[in-house]
Amino acid sequence: MTSAAGPDLNPRNSKQKRARFLLGVIGVLLVAALAAFMLTDSTSSWSVPPDARALANPIPANATSIAAGKAIYDDRCAECHGNAGDGNGSKSMRYRVKPANFTDAAVMETRTDGELYWKITTGRKPMPSFETKLSDEERWMLVDYIRTFAHPK
Ligand code: HEC
Repeated sequence: MTSAAGPDLNPRNSKQKRARFLLGVIGVLLVAALAAFMLTDSTSSWSVPPDARALANPIPANATSIAAGKAIYDDRCAECHGNAGDGNGSKSMRYRVKPANFTDAAVMETRTDGELYWKITTGRKPMPSFETKLSDEERWMLVDYIRTFAHPK
């Protein structure tokens, strides 16, 4: 009869124990990694520097700037944010973080032009940064255009 208190002299038993221990460690690490992954960008708010929020839009919203903004939007943004600006573009289902819905007037009213411009400039995964892909003017014209989604004519 083997005693439970004595050292385990069966090599197969101790190997199995070590394997079970390692599996346990891997399991805990996986759960921790998954939790960290889910908690990072999806739930943390996208904070904007105060001076970026305060930036004034140098390009007035008019028929010309809005039309120019629309052309860039349809080319670069609609695949995620949708042609109607509702966040349901053809690629939107691929991402854990849903592309912003620009038709939500209550949310859009809390955003300054400077904030929208800064977010387009910086990007945040999965949204790319457009700092080097578009000029300043193009990014401001996009702000003028995406504002129209919440206030359709
Ligand atoms: C690959 C998909 C993708 C593309 C392409 C993309 N976006 Fe986004 N966009 C997102 C996602 C996802 C978010 C939400 C990010 C977050 O909240 O962390 C977002 C957020 C935003 C926001 C912030 C909205 C808010 O509520 O403050 C703006 C503004 C924006 N996008 C504008 C644009 C513009 C303009 C373009 C094109 C030049 C564009 N995006 C291209 C995926 C995309």
